[in-house]
Amino acid sequence: MLKRLRPTSWINNIPAYVPGTSKDTIMKRFGISDPIKLASNENPLGPSPEAIKAIESSKRITHLYPDPDALDLRKAAAAFFGCTPEHIIAGNGSDEIIDFACRAFIEPGDEVIIPETTFSYYRIASLACGAKAVMTDMKDHAIDIDDIEAHLSEKTKAVFIANPNNPTGTCLDSKQILLLADRIPEHVLLVIDEAYAAFVRSQAFKSAVNLVHVHDNIVTIHTLSKSHGLAGLRVGFGIAGSSIMESLYRIKPPFNVNLLALKAGQAALYDLDFLKQTLETTWNGLDYLYAEATRLGLQFVPSQTNFVLINIGTGAEKVYEELLKRGIITRYMASYGLDDYIRVSIGLPSENQAFIKHLEEIL
Ligand SMILES: Cc1ncc(COP(=O)(O)O)c(C=O)c1O
Repeated sequence: MLKRLRPTSWINNIPAYVPGTSKDTIMKRFGISDPIKLASNENPLGPSPEAIKAIESSKRITHLYPDPDALDLRKAAAAFFGCTPEHIIAGNGSDEIIDFACRAFIEPGDEVIIPETTFSYYRIASLACGAKAVMTDMKDHAIDIDDIEAHLSEKTKAVFIANPNNPTGTCLDSKQILLLADRIPEHVLLVIDEAYAAFVRSQAFKSAVNLVHVHDNIVTIHTLSKSHGLAGLRVGFGIAGSSIMESLYRIKPPFNVNLLALKAGQAALYDLDFLKQTLETTWNGLDYLYAEATRLGLQFVPSQTNFVLINIGTGAEKVYEELLKRGIITRYMASYGLDDYIRVSIGLPSENQAFIKHLEEIL
């Protein structure tokens, strides 16, 4: 009998990642010339101008391989995140760091604890390594650290949390993070994803970067996709103590961050003016959406990120579809078990206003 090529026995259990609908799709589907995309938590200001300059000045050397160590980028990241370059690994987006963490530590049969309503790639990357995903309950849209502790077992190998969390926008305060870090046994990897940390306004939040020197089993994850406007270039980081770092570096492809991403990422990290503008735009936009949602009688989940979950009620899917037809792309949240909600990324003031205008007309 002919033997057929088979993928791993667990690969068919992996749910597909569902990205935000692209502008291109909506342009083609509805013939709309300039849709507004508020679906993927991208930076509405575009890339940092310093990053654009860096791309311009290095585009003629793209026939050369990039620095495999990403040293200048890591130095800039170390200055930004408050650690040393030896404790940083750079990735082709933070997705790649999530992948490294799973591939370096997870074996088939291991259990990985993941909160029920969070970034879907944790599950995909864990299942790809043959793990069993153990989902934990949310409490008022926030990650419930007691439920995480309750699900720890002999088989647990990793715990993922996003702080602040996507798609709920909530964050755990520094006391809860310390508690969680203390409750996770040392042989279990604790991944703390801070993709949205730059946007946090809560005084009770603190980055977990300093914890990597206290707990050998913690890796924090960071990205330039949101706060620094480089989603299309793909620049992310992992920060951890020496033993985790050593394992992650063993599986890193040699030239995983491309040359333009290295240069632009480095420039963007030093461009603090752009970051300031980004935060102002985001926070003003959030306050505007809160006020308008309240005026329209809609509930929302107060957010520490650059997006907000809005409770539209039973007709949420229809409202989402109707917004799409009008060229406003948001995210319908049924795939996260939030059938009544849409998630809206903060845009430019004119984009936020257009969203509210159309939403009001549709409701
Ligand atoms: C919580 C979280 N982590 C990581 C990522 C991945 O970001 P990137 O791969 O663009 O760095 C995202 C993207 O939406 C996210 O929401």
